[in-house]
Amino acid sequence: MIDLHCHILPGIDDGAQTEYDALDMACAAVENGITKIVATPHHKNGAYENPKAQILKYVEVLNELLGSQGIPLEILPGQEVRIYGEIAQEIDNGALLTMNNGGHYVFIEFPSSQVPRYAKQLFYDMQLQGITPIIVHPERNHEIQSNPMLLYNFIKNGALSQVTAASLLGRFGKKAHKLSVQIIENNLTHFIATDAHNTEGRGFLLQEAYADITKLFGTDYTFMYQENAELLLEDKVVNREIPTQIKEKKFLGIF
Ligand SMILES: [Fe+2]
Repeated sequence: MIDLHCHILPGIDDGAQTEYDALDMACAAVENGITKIVATPHHKNGAYENPKAQILKYVEVLNELLGSQGIPLEILPGQEVRIYGEIAQEIDNGALLTMNNGGHYVFIEFPSSQVPRYAKQLFYDMQLQGITPIIVHPERNHEIQSNPMLLYNFIKNGALSQVTAASLLGRFGKKAHKLSVQIIENNLTHFIATDAHNTEGRGFLLQEAYADITKLFGTDYTFMYQENAELLLEDKVVNREIPTQIKEKKFLGIF
């Protein structure tokens, strides 16, 4: 399996702190059935800045370390970019890293409490440049939790999204769990990933999440998400079903 979202590069954000941590995480990932990880350190989230050149270098070093330890895992470059106004220009001038450095997809994180109003225009501008924004863990965003229509509008207008495995499994609370299921049900997401930061509280649960998806929605969904992860690494067009709006289920049909 491929994990598209992971904080495994040591010492540069709130994920692995040391090379030992990174190796521990790598072993846990392999045990979970993961063969490739896109390392996506935080960038511009108020606490961490990890420009493209630094990430590329760290990925190379970690791959060498994994090779020397005989751990069968490949690390690929990515970045989790906190949304800010100049993203479109900074991709152009080479400061930001697209997924697997392919040039067409960028991981975008909203602040956890809200969705900035300028996101709509920014996503439009990015798409005009041929870059597709991928909204990471929308199910954990408080404003989307209370108004899922925001996510529907972004997806309808061409953005993609990634649901976090642990959210689907209930590890981020009831709201994130319920919304994860609704997001999948309504074709509002395209990727499942771990967002692992360590081997304990925020570890790898990809196999468990895909098992859950298979149980709830059938194998077609699991295959689609797994294929999308492969297509993303190849910087190709990914599968998208027509998105629908999340509707609250009526209680006994009377409300
Ligand atoms: Fe993350």
